[in-house]
Amino acid sequence: MSRILIFDTTLRDGEQSPGCGMTAAEKLRMAHELAELGVDVLEAGFAASSREDADAVRSIAREVHGPVVAALARATQGDIHAAADALDSCGSPRIHVFIATSDIHLAHKLRIGREECVERAAAAVALARTLVDDVEFSAEDATRSDPDFLARVVETAVREGATTINVPDTVGYAVPSEMGELITALLERVPGLKERVVSVHCHDDLGLAVANSLAAVQAGARQVECTINGIGERAGNAALEEIVMALRVRRDRLGARTAIRTERLHRASRLLSHLTGIQPQPNKAVVGRNAFAHEAGIHQHGVLAEPRTYEIMTPEMVGAPASTLVLGKHSGRHGLDARFKHLGYALTSEEMDRVATDFKALAARKRDILDEDLLSLLHHGALEDVPPIHRLEELDVRCGGEVSRARVALAGNRPGGAHTAEAEGDGPIAAAFAALGGALGVDVVLEDLAIRAASPG
Ligand code: KIV
Ligand code: ZN
Repeated sequence: MSRILIFDTTLRDGEQSPGCGMTAAEKLRMAHELAELGVDVLEAGFAASSREDADAVRSIAREVHGPVVAALARATQGDIHAAADALDSCGSPRIHVFIATSDIHLAHKLRIGREECVERAAAAVALARTLVDDVEFSAEDATRSDPDFLARVVETAVREGATTINVPDTVGYAVPSEMGELITALLERVPGLKERVVSVHCHDDLGLAVANSLAAVQAGARQVECTINGIGERAGNAALEEIVMALRVRRDRLGARTAIRTERLHRASRLLSHLTGIQPQPNKAVVGRNAFAHEAGIHQHGVLAEPRTYEIMTPEMVGAPASTLVLGKHSGRHGLDARFKHLGYALTSEEMDRVATDFKALAARKRDILDEDLLSLLHHGALEDVPPIHRLEELDVRCGGEVSRARVALAGNRPGGAHTAEAEGDGPIAAAFAALGGALGVDVVLEDLAIRAASPG
C-alpha cells in the first residue's frame, strides 16, 4: 500500500485568502497543531512577500519539530535567498520554487517566452539546491500548459536536482480524468521522474479539488497539497480532512494511506476557525457542524439500531465531540480536567486556571455546558500577543423608531479620542458603529458582520 505525503499549505496558500490572515503568533500556534496532526510537510509562508511572513517562517522553522518546513519562492535569486535565510535554523528545510508554464501566464503575467521560462526554472532549482538538499519545483498553471512544454520544464527541474515536482491546478480548471491522465503522461515521458516525488496541488473553483487530487493519487502522485477546512485563494484549496478521510475510509479502492492522526482533524479545524474567525459551512464534509448529525427520523432510527446504516465513519475517527451535556455549575476542576482529557487535550496548569475561571463565569449564565463550550473557552483568550488598547465598557443602543441611537463608553490607555460618545444612525448597527467611531476619534467602516452562537443551545 503506497504512503501519500500530506503537504499542508494552510499557512501559505490558505492564509493568502481574504479574511484568513493570521499573526505570527497565531501561525506558530497553528503550526504546532499541524505538526501534532502528523502532516509530512508544512508550508510556513512566502518569505519574500513581507517581513511578517519571513518572521513567521523563521519562528516556525526554529520551533516546530517533526514535519519538513517549506518556504515558497518565485524563481528569482532574491526570493530563493529570502526563503533559505528564513529556514536557516530548520532541521528539515525545503525551498519550494515556482514559475508559471502556461502561455497565458507567460505572455500576460511574466511577459517572457518559453525559452526564458526554461532558463529561469533551471537556474532557480540549481540555486536552491546549493542552499538546501530538499527542493520542490512547481509549474504554476500546469493544467492549462501545453503538455509538451510542461514535460520539458519538468524534465529540466528534475535534471537540476528538484526532489519533488508539483503539478498545480492553479485555477481549478481540470476534471478528474484529465488530472489522472496528466500525471500518468508526465510519469511515462519525463526521464527520472519516477525516482522523484510527484505532487499535486488543486484549487476548488469547480468544486473538484479533492476529486482531482485523488485522481492524481490513483495515477501515481505521492504527495498531495491541501489546507485545513479547504481555505485558500478564491474557492480554496483541496481540503486536507477530506483527502485524508477519503484515503482512510476508501482504502479498499484507493490503496493508499497517510500518516495523519485523524482523531485530531476536528481540533485542527476548530483551532483554525477560531484563529481566522471563518467557520466551515455546517454541511462541510468531515468537519462541518452537521457532518455527523442525523435529522430525519428514519435516519435516527437506523443509526440507533446500527450506526453503519448511515455512518461511513464515526465522529470519534475525526475527534468530533458529541454534543452531550457534560458539565454544570457544580463541576469542579477535576471534572473539567477529566472532560478535557476525554476530548484529547492535556491542559497546562496556567490554561486550567484560566479556563476554570471562565468556566465559572459561563456556568453562572448557562445551565448546560457542552463540549463545544469547553473548546470555545480553551481557545478564547489563549493568545496574549495582541496588547489590549481599548475595552468596551458600555454599549447602549435604542432602536425601534426611524432613527436609532447608541452610546458607547470605552476604557483605554491610548491618547486621543473621547472615551464616551453618542451617535444616531439609520439602524442599531449603524448607530453603534458611529458611536464607536466617535469614541475612538476615527472613521469606522464596517466591512463585515457575523453573529453566531459559540455552541449549540
Ligand atoms: O496554486 C498554485 O499554483 C500555487 C503554487 C505557488 C504552487 O499555489
Ligand atoms: Zn495554490
